[in-house]
Amino acid sequence: MFRKTATLLLAVIAFATTAFAQNNNVANLLPKPSSVVMGNQNSVFHLTNKTRIVYDWNKNDASYAIKELDRLTTEVFGKKLKKNTKVHGDNNIIFKHNGSLAEEQYILEITPENILIYSNGRAGAFYAVQTLRQILPVQAYETPIDLEKVALPTLKITDKPHFAYRGFMLDCSRHFWDVKTVKKVIDIMALHKMNRFHWHLTEDQGWRIEIKKYPLLTKMGSRREQTTTGRNEGMDGIPYGGYYSQSDIREVVKYAQERCITIIPEIEIPGHSLGALCAYPWLGCQGEKGNYKTWANWGVSPQIACAGKESSFKFWEDVLGEVMDLFPSEYIHIGGDEAPRDEWKACPLCQQRIKDNGLKNEAELQSYVNGRIEKILNDKGRKLIGWDEILEGGVSENATIMSWRGASGGIAAAKKGNYAIMTPDSHCYLNFYQTTDRPDELLCIGGYIPLRKAYSLDPYDKLAKEEQKYILGVQANLWTEYISTPLQLEYMLLPRLGAIAEIGWSNPAPDKKDTEEFIGRAKELSRYYCAFGWNFGRHFYEDGVQIGW
Ligand code: ACM
Ligand code: ZN
Repeated sequence: MFRKTATLLLAVIAFATTAFAQNNNVANLLPKPSSVVMGNQNSVFHLTNKTRIVYDWNKNDASYAIKELDRLTTEVFGKKLKKNTKVHGDNNIIFKHNGSLAEEQYILEITPENILIYSNGRAGAFYAVQTLRQILPVQAYETPIDLEKVALPTLKITDKPHFAYRGFMLDCSRHFWDVKTVKKVIDIMALHKMNRFHWHLTEDQGWRIEIKKYPLLTKMGSRREQTTTGRNEGMDGIPYGGYYSQSDIREVVKYAQERCITIIPEIEIPGHSLGALCAYPWLGCQGEKGNYKTWANWGVSPQIACAGKESSFKFWEDVLGEVMDLFPSEYIHIGGDEAPRDEWKACPLCQQRIKDNGLKNEAELQSYVNGRIEKILNDKGRKLIGWDEILEGGVSENATIMSWRGASGGIAAAKKGNYAIMTPDSHCYLNFYQTTDRPDELLCIGGYIPLRKAYSLDPYDKLAKEEQKYILGVQANLWTEYISTPLQLEYMLLPRLGAIAEIGWSNPAPDKKDTEEFIGRAKELSRYYCAFGWNFGRHFYEDGVQIGW
C-alpha cells in the first residue's frame, strides 16, 4: 500500500517537474545586471540534457565557464553536456568571442533556438554562467527527480561590474577554516560575482600558512594552548590549532582561479604577530625575554615584531618570497593595523633605527618598515595593500589603502591620489550582529549591521568626482573571534554578503538603489542558498516567511 502510494506520488511529482514552466527569475537577479531586455513572453528556450555546448578554443577561452556549466548541469540533469566546436542545428549554448567587451563584461542572449554568450575572456563568460544559474528556477536545484528540460525566458542581458575589486576577507587565524570550508566560501563568492578573496593567514592567535624556510611557524605558531571564553572571561583549556600546507594553498588558489577569484594573502607586519614571535622569539623587540606565546585571548597584543633588527627584514623577505611563489596575485596584503608602538619606544634597536634614518617617531618607523616591504614586493612585480593605519607615518604613492576604521582612511587616500578599497566597519564587518531582537542570537564581537545597513554603503560618500576613480572597490570582512563553526560562518555571511556584492557590481549611487526592491531579490536568492545547502540569516523575513530548513 505504502509503495503504491509512493510510486503514484513520485509519478505526479515527476510529471510536474519534467518541464518547468517559464518562471521569470530575471527580475530577481543579484547582483542586478546593467541591462535586461526581455523577449517575447511566450517564447522559451528549453535547456535539456541534450543541449550542446559550442565553443572555439582559439577565439575565446571559456574554459572556466564551461567547467561551471558542467557543474550546473550535473546538479540539474545529473550529467555534463556534450561539447562541439561548431554549431549543428539548434539547442546549443554557444560561447562567442567579442573583442569589444571588457574582461568581466558579458552578453547573455537567450533565444528560442540557442543560448548565446559573448565575452572577451574567461571572467565575462564565467559571470554569464552565474547569471544563467540564477535564471534557472530554484526547483531545478531542489528536486531529487531527474529533469528532462527547463524552460528559460528569452532575453538579452548586457552586464559588467561597476568596480574592478569586489572582495571578501576571511580571518582563518582566530578560528581555523579547513580547505573544504574555504572552498565553500569561494563558491558563495562566485555566485555573487565577487572576484577577490582576501585570506587573513597570520595573527597573534595563530600562524596558518606553511613556510618551508621557517618550519616552526606552523609547528609552534599555528597552535595555542587554549582559547578564551566569552569576552575574555575564562579559558576553555582545550588546545587549538591548524594550518594550510603549501599544497593546500596551491589547491585553493587553483580552485579560486577557476571561479575567476584572485586570492590576496595577508601576512600581518609588524603587529598581530605573536604566532610568529612564539616560533622565532628573535623576531620580537624583547627576544627570548619576551616569553612569547600564541595568544589565547581576543584583542590586540602589545607585543610586536622588532623594526630595529635586520634579521626581521630577512624573515619578512623570506616569508613573502614563499608567499609570492604560492599566490600569483598582483596585490599582497601586509596588514599594518593595530600595531601598538610602545615596545618600539622602549627598544634600543628600534630607537637606533629611528635615529639612523632621521625619522621623527615610531609612526614613521612603521612607514620605514612598509617602505622596505613594499620594495621587496615591487622587485617581484607585486603591489602592497595595507590597512588604513599605514597612512599614519606617510605612505608611498603606490600603496593601496584598505579603509576599515570607517571611510576616512579611504577618503584620505583618494585625496592624496592613492588607490583605496572601502571596507568600513560601519557597513562591511559581517562579524557584527545582524539582528538585535533574537534572544537566542549567538555571542558576537558587537556592533550592529542589519542587511539594510550593509546595502546603504556608499563607497563614494564625501569624494569629489575626480577623487572617485581612486576607489578600486569594496570588501566585506569576517573576523572570526566569535565564529567557530561553518554553520555560524555562513549565517553571518549570508545574506549580507549579497549586499556588498551588489554595491561592488551594480551602480552604487544612492539614487540608483531601491532598498526594498533589493530585499525582495535577496529573499529570492535565499531560496537558492537553501537549495545549495548554505546557511543564512533568516530574520530579515519580516513577513515571517520561513524558507527551507
Ligand atoms: C581590523 O579590523 N583590525 C583591520
Ligand atoms: Zn625593537
